[in-house]
Amino acid sequence: MKAAILSALVAVNLVLAGFDTWSPPGPYDVRAPCPMLNTLANHGFLPHDGKDISREATENALFDALNINKTLGGFLFDFAITTNPKPNATAFSLNDLGNHNVLEHDASLSRSDAFFGNVLTFNQSIFDETRTFWTDETLDIQMAANARVGRIKTSRATNPTYELSELGTAFTFGESVAYIILIGDKHSGTANRSWVEYFFEHEQLPLHLGWHRAAELFQEIDLDRYMDEIQNLTEATAEVAPAARQRRSGHFGW
Ligand code: HEM
Ligand SMILES: *[C@@H]1O[C@H](CO)[C@@H](O)[C@H](O)[C@H]1NC(C)=O
Ligand SMILES: *[C@@H]1O[C@H](CO)[C@@H](O)[C@H](O)[C@H]1NC(C)=O
Ligand SMILES: *[C@@H]1O[C@H](CO)[C@@H](O)[C@H](O)[C@H]1NC(C)=O
Ligand SMILES: *[C@@H]1O[C@H](CO)[C@@H](O)[C@H](O)[C@H]1NC(C)=O
Ligand SMILES: *[C@@H]1O[C@H](CO)[C@@H](O)[C@H](O)[C@H]1NC(C)=O
Repeated sequence: MKAAILSALVAVNLVLAGFDTWSPPGPYDVRAPCPMLNTLANHGFLPHDGKDISREATENALFDALNINKTLGGFLFDFAITTNPKPNATAFSLNDLGNHNVLEHDASLSRSDAFFGNVLTFNQSIFDETRTFWTDETLDIQMAANARVGRIKTSRATNPTYELSELGTAFTFGESVAYIILIGDKHSGTANRSWVEYFFEHEQLPLHLGWHRAAELFQEIDLDRYMDEIQNLTEATAEVAPAARQRRSGHFGW
């Protein structure tokens, strides 16, 4: 009897991870300023409680859900681990990522600046500002560049503690690329706006709208190429270019 109950529980546990299952965070679960890691926890690709996430768990979740190269997943984990204040940590929790000015930065697309509010939760008014730059049913890198610039201008003008470090700047480029390419398509460099909006607003993969895991691996070379492109398109608008253009060295381009 006990064994039967146990194996039933194990079976349920196995089912509670993947594209077909989703549940919002409970009262003891923690979440991140990152809409995608939250999404993966809601689906159970990452631990649903959002806590003590290892390198292997990170690499597997990003690969299983999004077909991200595991070396690239490990590279992102190496950034994540720097947000855990414990010395020599080998895991991070999603809320660690909210520690201000480690990775978390001002001028986010869907979060308030730390000065004004909670960076771990979706903020509708911030996101509504971002959406004003998404001017077509199909989003492209230029629209992502414009939204990023728009949010930076607003933050700079309104937040007396506004700050965007070099690493923060690199992350803003990477994040803008990520929602276009991983919700959308790495060959066209475009994404369906309603899928992207659904993803940000619900922290759920928009499978029911037609999204599916990309057939091809997403590689570091793809990330670098599109980060280069969004930076070029930002400079073309002559707005909020980085102080000095960094020469790229492969790793995250910085
Ligand atoms: C281990 C992997 C990852 C780590 C450590 C990570 C970390 C972070 C952090 C710290 C932020 C907050 C930055 C801010 O202050 O706005 C963030 C934002 C973001 N992340 Fe992730 N992330 C990861 C993977 C991904 C993936 C695979 C995607 C794919 C779509 C993604 C999409 C985004 C987006 C779009 C934002 C911007 C949210 C906003 O500006 O409101 N991330 N991520
Ligand atoms: C993953 O990326 C690494 C480094 O960019 C590369 O050496 C490796 O071949 C890639 N793996 C696959 C399966 O393509
Ligand atoms: C962390 O690692 C360093 C170098 O390996 C070691 O000297 C230090 O004692 C470790 N700290 C803790 C708290 O384990
Ligand atoms: C959302 O962001 C706005 C602008 O920064 C801020 O005034 C508001 O308090 C935030 N809301 C929450 C719930 O953090
Ligand atoms: C975007 O996805 C929706 C389904 O949510 C679909 O109705 C629409 O035709 C798609 N738009 C484009 C431009 O492919
Ligand atoms: C970005 O601009 C540089 C310098 O003009 C150019 O060499 C590079 O090919 C551009 N990259 C992309 C992806 O457009």
